[in-house]
Amino acid sequence: ADRPRIATLLADAPVGSAVDVSGWVRTRRDSKNGFSFVELNDGSCMSNLQVVVDASVPGYEETIREVHTGASVRVTGELKESPGAKQRVEMHAATLELIGGADSETYPLQKKRHSFEFLREIAHLRPRTNTFGAIARVRNALCWSIHNFFQQRGFLYVHTPIITTSDCEGAGEMFTVTTLLGHDGEAGSAEKGSQDDPDFEHDFFGKRAALTVSGQLEAEIYATSLGPCYTFGPTFRAENSNTTRHLAEFWMVEPEMPFCELTDNMQLAEDFIKTTIGDVLERCREDMEFFNLRIDKTILATLDHILQNEFRRVSYTEAVEVLTSVDREWDYPVEWGHNLQAEHERYLTEEHFRQPIIVYDYPRSIKPFYMYCNEDGKTVRAMDVLVPGVGEIIGGSQREDRLDVLETRMAECDLDPEEYWWYLDLRRFGSVPHSGFGLGLERMLLLLTGMQNIRDVIPFPRTPRSADF
Ligand code: 4AD
Ligand code: MG
Repeated sequence: ADRPRIATLLADAPVGSAVDVSGWVRTRRDSKNGFSFVELNDGSCMSNLQVVVDASVPGYEETIREVHTGASVRVTGELKESPGAKQRVEMHAATLELIGGADSETYPLQKKRHSFEFLREIAHLRPRTNTFGAIARVRNALCWSIHNFFQQRGFLYVHTPIITTSDCEGAGEMFTVTTLLGHDGEAGSAEKGSQDDPDFEHDFFGKRAALTVSGQLEAEIYATSLGPCYTFGPTFRAENSNTTRHLAEFWMVEPEMPFCELTDNMQLAEDFIKTTIGDVLERCREDMEFFNLRIDKTILATLDHILQNEFRRVSYTEAVEVLTSVDREWDYPVEWGHNLQAEHERYLTEEHFRQPIIVYDYPRSIKPFYMYCNEDGKTVRAMDVLVPGVGEIIGGSQREDRLDVLETRMAECDLDPEEYWWYLDLRRFGSVPHSGFGLGLERMLLLLTGMQNIRDVIPFPRTPRSADF
């Protein structure tokens, strides 16, 4: 169990070390002189360990014939200096054990490059490719960095529920929860559980419930009791949009801070994005260089530029002025009071400002009920962080902490105050100015890797068209 994995062997292990590694064969080449090169990968890094196997290995002739791409093997032997310039060391095998063979005729991952569309159909094998291995490691490092960022600043990690009764964003994009149990408590057969069955419960034990679209409202409860906190978990949106930026199930990290107004919220969001980018660059150097070489030749320069510059803060009204003063045919017309569309976000971040921007003070008519209403009566203290190549990666706001204003807003949004009695209580007892935001983990991964489709930065994408695994 303590055997060093390939990442460690390649980086640190001294020449002459005895090694014992297990992994999956990427390729095998046989030389005419009675030995073979096996490129072995164990997922610990992108690089393969080159293993030289020759006739001195017991059973060489019979075993090596079965060592195909995709097979799993265990090798023991010694680390030697590598004659090739590519790597510091290679391994010379003393024993070779085939653990699980792989038929080269039917193994779906051939040596050639496969399209991402094809790889999406084999979500169970795509992590064996360089690209998806790198994405998995970057995703892991990003999650570590997110926790580290908040833990170092004393934020409390709070688990908010997946099954909820409130629609935080008020957009009606909820997947409702139903049970297939009849009223007699028996698991329904397809027929028994069908919608026509009088016993079918269209609800969560007698109540209407759904999968959460955001942990914010519950995070507010903890923030106004215990101080800065964050929730980090899966969220669900039943929006039927087949874009390269939307998933039906995605991961969101949501910090929430008491005694905090919009300006500090923006600063935290900027520090957060920069710190996590820095961490990933440091921890995943090899993988990030791969993305820069194979996926997007500008990604390292883009990230460096993001780290070097302050995010530009632009009010929604200014953003609209920029967009209306440029001579361009938009698919969606720009008008104060309308949402910014992807084409507008792209223009602002990629052509006009050419860097991440934080758009703030949006019209209240296009934002959810919980945002703090400005004195102008027209805008709310909302903020969206937009980045080149991706668009919106963060949405956040200062929350309305004045009971009377919140009640008026809820009436405006047709929300029943009875359903939100607990949320209103937070404004009744010890209310404080507080703020927070939500970062879409997969949108952040698009920014980090230069990948173009959000379906490729989550292991098992759920979209209107796919949920195969
Ligand atoms: O802007 P949103 O809807 O904000 C909220 O949910 C707030 N309650 C967050 C808060 O203040 N605590 O979503 C936040 C972020 C977006 O900026 C985007 O990055 C991501 O979540 N997101 C999605 N990612 C992938 N697929 C989808 N369908 C997404 N919808 C939102
Ligand atoms: Mg948003």
